[in-house]
Amino acid sequence: MNDHTISLVRESFDLVTPIAPQAAALFYANLFEADPQLKPLFKGDMVVQGHSLMQMLELAVNMLDQPHVLVPALQDLGRRHAGYGAQDHHYDTVGGALLKTLRQGLGAAWAPDVEEAWTEVYGVLAGTMKESAVVAA
Ligand code: HEM
Repeated sequence: MNDHTISLVRESFDLVTPIAPQAAALFYANLFEADPQLKPLFKGDMVVQGHSLMQMLELAVNMLDQPHVLVPALQDLGRRHAGYGAQDHHYDTVGGALLKTLRQGLGAAWAPDVEEAWTEVYGVLAGTMKESAVVAA
């Protein structure tokens, strides 16, 4: 992951931060449309859940150049997700819903290089989470 990728992800996420609650709601709508079977896994309040998701994404985006901080946090998150019932293939569905949400939320600011940067970054986040879920199993 190079500096340009990190800048593209940070700059685009900054545009989403002011509309974080709406972006989170849109994300879950996209996710449950893509796979309605995921809905029962989410047992808590969806507003609180959406807030945690956006906070975690913000942390991840800020820490992309500090892997010694980011990786252990993602490993813990991955282990917790194994407990929530998240399976490997769900990460693709979540990634698809996230990219769709960013495309919808960013509008004219969405561009092929932004999509490429988010695809790479999501791949790293999801990959780190999935690896630690396997170790915990
Ligand atoms: C990079 C990908 C992901 C990120 C950043 C993320 C982030 C989060 C965060 C921050 C929480 C709050 C609870 C906690 O910190 O443990 C959470 C909960 C949860 N996530 Fe994820 N998540 C991701 C992928 C997934 C995937 C692939 C699934 C699969 C279905 C999933 C399902 C859930 C569920 C079921 C909960 C608990 C909801 C509840 O207790 O009601 N997440 N996620």
